[in-house]
Amino acid sequence: MLEFLGPLVGRMHPILVHLPIGILIFGIILCFFPQREKITLLPAIRLAFLLGGIAALCAGISGFLQYQFEGFSWEDVQIHLFGGVLTALGSFGLFFHFRKAETIQLKSKVLASGLGLILTVTGHLGGSLTHGASYFTEVLPPELQSFLGIEIQPEKGPQLTEETWEEAVLYSEVIQPILNQNCKSCHNPRNRKGELDLTTLKGLISGGEDGIILTAGDAQHSELFARLILPKDDEKHMPPSEKRQPSKEEIALIETWIKAGGKADQTLAEAGISRKFIEPFIQKNEVPFYPISQIPAISADSLAQLKDHGFFAELIESGSGLLKVTCTNYPGFKDSDWEKLAPVKNRIAYLDLSGTRVSDALLEEISQLPNLTVLKLNGTTISGNSLTQVAQVPTLKLIYLNQTAVNLSHIQSLSTSKSLEKVFTFDTPASLEISKSEKLSLPFLVEGASYSLPKLPSDTIVY
Ligand code: HEC
Repeated sequence: MLEFLGPLVGRMHPILVHLPIGILIFGIILCFFPQREKITLLPAIRLAFLLGGIAALCAGISGFLQYQFEGFSWEDVQIHLFGGVLTALGSFGLFFHFRKAETIQLKSKVLASGLGLILTVTGHLGGSLTHGASYFTEVLPPELQSFLGIEIQPEKGPQLTEETWEEAVLYSEVIQPILNQNCKSCHNPRNRKGELDLTTLKGLISGGEDGIILTAGDAQHSELFARLILPKDDEKHMPPSEKRQPSKEEIALIETWIKAGGKADQTLAEAGISRKFIEPFIQKNEVPFYPISQIPAISADSLAQLKDHGFFAELIESGSGLLKVTCTNYPGFKDSDWEKLAPVKNRIAYLDLSGTRVSDALLEEISQLPNLTVLKLNGTTISGNSLTQVAQVPTLKLIYLNQTAVNLSHIQSLSTSKSLEKVFTFDTPASLEISKSEKLSLPFLVEGASYSLPKLPSDTIVY
């Protein structure tokens, strides 16, 4: 029948701790007080440490009960608890020390200061347990916090991936992150505006001062959603207008979740959420298109020299050491002109030789370019027999072979490439063969394959 006593006394811990703190600090101050010869403060000091010790013992017992009943983890409380025991022992120790002492000596002051230190550390750890370690620092201006080296981590919002978003759990992986990002600062266990905690499903379901905020299946009558779509100047609009506002996709997701029943473990697919709504939350893996190179940017002189030769050359992006080289205005370019590019071979990431007089023989040279990513050979006379060599360039992603004589087997010879993403084959024998062949799988995309000619009986194509 009296089971409630344990938890009750436990909950009194935050109040009880102030007794030993007050009494002991008083005792410590007295130790440093100027002592007059006739009126000694020793009896008061003894009493302070005796009462302080008893109070620390009581606070310790209640603290232990709170630890037992309130679900604190041992890891979090251990040093605080140890400090509490040390405080009580230290107080009694000092009481016995002063009982024997006739005057207050330096040693006594050092011991009293030691107890003061233990008390401060223990109290601070206790405060961190109840209010959180960032209790003081989180109210500081952000600039000051970062100056103090405190990392302010903004809430991230939902993080989904292209491959797995459909299996993501709607509540925990989408709705809760949205609430964390938009509502948590005011609706959390320590700061429950409107008596509402939105950091857990339990808190959300319990509702706020005006009752429940979620009516499963009925978004319009759920305050959780209804307040979001109120006009911004309505005083009930959430979040308050000066704060970050959820995006329309975020609001739509909250609405969908409520309509789908406000369940804890439904996946996005089960809730019938279309990709459109989650598009902004899908992590794009931002692999840069061109290789990352350590080559320093090219000098203006070298660039001018290339232009003098007739090439068009520019940086792939400002500050990069890599180049885009095209022969648009150099149709006479032939294999023997290759050496003009020798000084920049390591820099070429994009090479457009379309419409030039290059031959298959040059492909061997081209395949030596260490950063080549895009190669355009449109409208050239290359036969395609040497394409295997190009497939060895480890950075090559796109190759343009439009209006050339390449056929399907040439394209297939590119399959050994591990980096190739797309091959362009408009107006080639290859594209015709591909549009006819049914079961064909290549490790890259082929553009131009969908192209097909009307099937006329008389149709014969001669290349
Ligand atoms: C800047 C602080 C702040 C933020 C951020 C905030 N709220 Fe509130 N919220 C309040 C205050 C203050 C109240 C109490 C006054 C009131 O009811 O309007 C409240 C009340 C509510 C209530 C009514 C609770 C009840 O039962 O009375 C709901 C529902 C609510 N907020 C939802 C949200 C949602 C959802 C978000 C995030 C999208 C959010 N709030 C973000 C400050 C905030």
